[in-house]
Amino acid sequence: MAIISLANAKGGAGKTTAALILATELARQGYRVVILDADPQRWITTWAEQTGLLPNLTVISEVTVASLPCHIMDLKPVTDYFVIDLAGARDALVTTALGMSDHVLIPVQGCAMDARGAAQILDLIRLLEEKAHIRIPHSVILTRVSAMVTTRALMQIKALLARRGVNVLNTMLAERTVFRDLFDCGGNLYGMDPAKASNLDRAIENAQAFAQEIRDLLPARAYTPAPAKTFFRMARKVA
Ligand SMILES: Nc1ncnc2c1ncn2[C@@H]1O[C@H](COP(=O)(O)OP(=O)(O)O)[C@@H](O)[C@H]1O
Ligand SMILES: [Mg+2]
Repeated sequence: MAIISLANAKGGAGKTTAALILATELARQGYRVVILDADPQRWITTWAEQTGLLPNLTVISEVTVASLPCHIMDLKPVTDYFVIDLAGARDALVTTALGMSDHVLIPVQGCAMDARGAAQILDLIRLLEEKAHIRIPHSVILTRVSAMVTTRALMQIKALLARRGVNVLNTMLAERTVFRDLFDCGGNLYGMDPAKASNLDRAIENAQAFAQEIRDLLPARAYTPAPAKTFFRMARKVA
């Protein structure tokens, strides 16, 4: 069992999108995933209401400082990965989630490198490590990386973060319309129509690489792939 939080004190960094891509891909692969929607804006909850049931995926809404540890305690025996989607804040709920996480993912936009929100989370992690004497492993994930960003510019960003001792995931999430469309259409990438969704295969590859890197970083249980056909049939039936 592993607890992963998505945190960046700034809104719009790509936390919710990254959380949803990771959670739906891990669930599709057969892992039992719980998304804890700890953002009062409830984007994941709205997506879940539209989607209906998906195998292996549970969404818990209205998560508070008091309820977060209870949800984790209750669901721990039947969960491989908890994914916590946090608000763009630096408040008590964010602090509680960081303190409980096995790994904190900090999305940073590859195009703008407006890293102030990320820096606030890194400071908070350092403070928790100092004061509470706990170690909170964390990584930056570059998100919304557009085709306009050159490989050289990305290497520079990675080098800058590495010099500050911050791990950066090898996988970057590209800026893709289908990632945005997930929230309008509901469901997961595999339920989308390839004729209508542009570069769907590339988006799926990207999601799979992301999930693979997280699985390598935080191995859960033995990997038992879900039969894809069953998954789609069930997803359609309930959607
Ligand atoms: N990889 C991506 N490709 C395309 N659009 C994205 C991507 N990541 C985020 N977005 C869009 O950017 C906006 C902010 O993303 P979101 O995930 O809600 O950020 P946060 O949760 O940090 O506030 C949303 O409109 C979302 O659809
Ligand atoms: Mg969000």
